[in-house]
Amino acid sequence: MAKALIIGCGGVGSVAIHKCCQNSEVFEEICIASRTKSKCDELKAKLEKTTKTKITTAKVDANQVDELVSLIQRVKPDIVMNLALPYQDLTIMEACLATKTHYMDTANYEPEDTAHFEYSWQWAYRDAFKKAGVTALLGSGFDPGVTSVFTAYALKHHFDEIETIDILDCNGGDHGYPFATNFNPEINIREVSAKGKYWKNGAWVETEPMEIKRVYDFPEVGVKDMYLMHHEEIESLALNVPGIKRIRFFMTFGQSYLTHLKCLENVGMTSIEPIEFQGQQIVPLQFLKAVLPDPASLGPRTKGKTNIGCIFTGRKDGKEKTYYIYNVCDHEESYKEVGSQAISYTTGVPAMIGAMMVVTGKWQKPGVYNMEEFDPDPFMAELSKWGLPWVECHAPKLVD
Ligand SMILES: NC(=O)c1ccc[n+]([C@@H]2O[C@H](COP(=O)([O-])OP(=O)(O)OC[C@H]3O[C@@H](n4cnc5c(N)ncnc54)[C@H](OP(=O)(O)O)[C@@H]3O)[C@@H](O)[C@H]2O)c1
Repeated sequence: MAKALIIGCGGVGSVAIHKCCQNSEVFEEICIASRTKSKCDELKAKLEKTTKTKITTAKVDANQVDELVSLIQRVKPDIVMNLALPYQDLTIMEACLATKTHYMDTANYEPEDTAHFEYSWQWAYRDAFKKAGVTALLGSGFDPGVTSVFTAYALKHHFDEIETIDILDCNGGDHGYPFATNFNPEINIREVSAKGKYWKNGAWVETEPMEIKRVYDFPEVGVKDMYLMHHEEIESLALNVPGIKRIRFFMTFGQSYLTHLKCLENVGMTSIEPIEFQGQQIVPLQFLKAVLPDPASLGPRTKGKTNIGCIFTGRKDGKEKTYYIYNVCDHEESYKEVGSQAISYTTGVPAMIGAMMVVTGKWQKPGVYNMEEFDPDPFMAELSKWGLPWVECHAPKLVD
């Protein structure tokens, strides 16, 4: 039925590729393209014996619009799935525009030399995508992504008005290393060492990194420390949920992770300012990435589960209401199925489903859109089918 060009073959890309290959009825053909072609070839060799999906591979530098345009013109995909890094979002969007091809990604644009992310750069393409008659679907991972769809679903089926949203990203997994990051270390460390931010009564409130702490007792995972962080879906949800009063995002961090991170920050290892070292310029954070365990190598070692979901409060039929929806994903089960731990799994599955929504026409609308702007029902129906079942209940117990 459809052909996808998948750019990026790392942790998330690899899961999405497995899932496209499980869904051959929709993804009849995929081309895996990345900076290091050998990784794409390895995955192709592993998967082509198990799937009806036809797989090709290519080498591409996704920072180069010209290279992307000629690849898209050669492959002629129905959609480009951007599963590279947030730095490549704009060049890939440019190439999709030039070739009038649908686009999707899982993370919003971030310039490589400034640790700052926001949607304005990608939202600036709204008119151009409308004019070109193609859809750009932004943030089709878990958070953003599924959490955004959970919000649209809560608004459609459970509330007349949502007043507050707390997004709770809990990882109860243990990889056995004193310090490692579950996805790209450079992106992860930039994210967690930034100031916290949340939306309250129409304005941003800024906090110091890790200033606001909560302790929750999560279904199937247990008691975990969480810290308030800025996260990209707050920005779009603040615009797209009418009358919303407060949106916050919390993520779990263990004490060992925080102690190591503080130490690395104190000695300058998390800096993105280039320094001179033995006659060449190096970026300390990029060097750190090179010495840390590759997130892809955590898969076979990680035990435990993730629990990611949202607590909504608001009103339904004149009464106050609280509603909690979450997914639990098991690291070992994920590894058994697709060779990656649950962090990549919970992102790669929604990436495939988002692309499926676009190519099947369920979510096709010329322009640039965030996930909560589409009808949540068809996406929610696919989630359980492709490995991310969801549970609706009362909020988890707030311990502290
Ligand atoms: N929404 C969510 O819930 C969520 C959660 C986690 C991650 N994410 C996002 O998912 C994306 C992928 O993360 P990941 O953990 O899979 O990262 P990763 O393991 O580092 O993989 C990144 C992939 O992109 C490729 N790449 C990097 N620069 C490139 C370039 N210039 N041209 C072509 N390919 C390039 C890399 O190629 P090499 O093999 O050559 O390095 C690698 O295959 C990121 O944007 C991340 O922020 C979203």
